[in-house]
Amino acid sequence: MSDDLIPAADTARARAYAPYSGFQVGAAIRSASGAIHLGCNVENVAYPEGTCAEAGAIAAMIAAGDSEIAEVAVIADGSAPVPPCGGCRQKLAEFAGADVPVTMATVDGQILRSTVGALLPGRFVADHMDRATPGAP
Ligand code: THU
Repeated sequence: MSDDLIPAADTARARAYAPYSGFQVGAAIRSASGAIHLGCNVENVAYPEGTCAEAGAIAAMIAAGDSEIAEVAVIADGSAPVPPCGGCRQKLAEFAGADVPVTMATVDGQILRSTVGALLPGRFVADHMDRATPGAP
């Protein structure tokens, strides 16, 4: 984990739009190219339409032309580091190998380190659809 990823995530956190929860989250992804892609949570008055910080960072990465995640950092102002939600774990796993490091941080300096594989054991992958017949009902 390089030193620059958590400060980058915190820059995004400060820009988060979270008037409903009051809980700003920032995420930073370093892709295989070395580029850093930022995301923050963007809430909506229709609550389910809100999006997580990790999803925003993934969208920024794809829009920038990268698709391989090398490292992830997530930061929020909590009493303990906030882990990616279940949906974001699956979203990260689409573009990250099991060994990709995920660093969770608080603004007051707490750090929790994990990996995409540890956060989502038994993840759903395309091989689980090996008997699928696209186009069939
Ligand atoms: N949130 C994230 O951005 N990432 C997560 O992994 C956990 C939750 C956001 C969504 C919502 O805007 C707020 O935190 C409270 O759930």
